[in-house]
Amino acid sequence: MEFTVRHINWLAPEYSESVWQLREDVLRIPLGLSLRNEDLSRDKTNEIFIAESQGKVIGCVFMEPKSPVQIQLRAMAVDHDWQGKNVGRALVSAAEAFSRSAGYRQISLHARKAAMGFYTALGYLAIGDEFREVGIPHFMMEKWLG
Ligand SMILES: CC(C)(COP(=O)(O)OP(=O)(O)OC[C@H]1O[C@@H](n2cnc3c(N)ncnc32)[C@H](O)[C@@H]1OP(=O)(O)O)[C@@H](O)C(=O)NCCC(=O)NCCS
Repeated sequence: MEFTVRHINWLAPEYSESVWQLREDVLRIPLGLSLRNEDLSRDKTNEIFIAESQGKVIGCVFMEPKSPVQIQLRAMAVDHDWQGKNVGRALVSAAEAFSRSAGYRQISLHARKAAMGFYTALGYLAIGDEFREVGIPHFMMEKWLG
């Protein structure tokens, strides 16, 4: 099935209508958590990339500037029915292209241990020790943009 990737920000209607629910369904409900208990104000500074198919948001990733040269990839989620179909790869590719053209040199992220293989396939390297976030093991990963 076809899908497209689009760059938005928090003011776009999709942010509150569909992206919130996708993050809730994919990243929080399986852990017994809810975005309702979180401060999402940092989202307003983020560049957001969404994947859509037939008008439905099926994936998202957020890019948060950390310094003039470093940007953090976060809130990476693909609809359960679409996982393993290259939607995640296309989202990261669009986020990387944006980051490169905006002058960032490095992308960092907090990878869930279970998702490390995904980021490794896309050229990210793990650094440092395991830590816990949202109750599960994570590793810091990074990629230098050529
Ligand atoms: C992890 C996630 C974002 C990957 O997106 P996706 O669309 O399913 O992945 P893609 O189909 O684009 O896969 C790209 C590559 O990564 C690999 N990959 C994907 N998920 C993987 C995983 N969990 N472990 C190991 N490798 C994985 C694929 O095999 C593929 O490699 P290949 O091209 O060499 O075969 C998605 O599965 C997801 O939303 N998972 C649940 C939430 C989550 O863990 N988010 C990340 C939080 S840090």
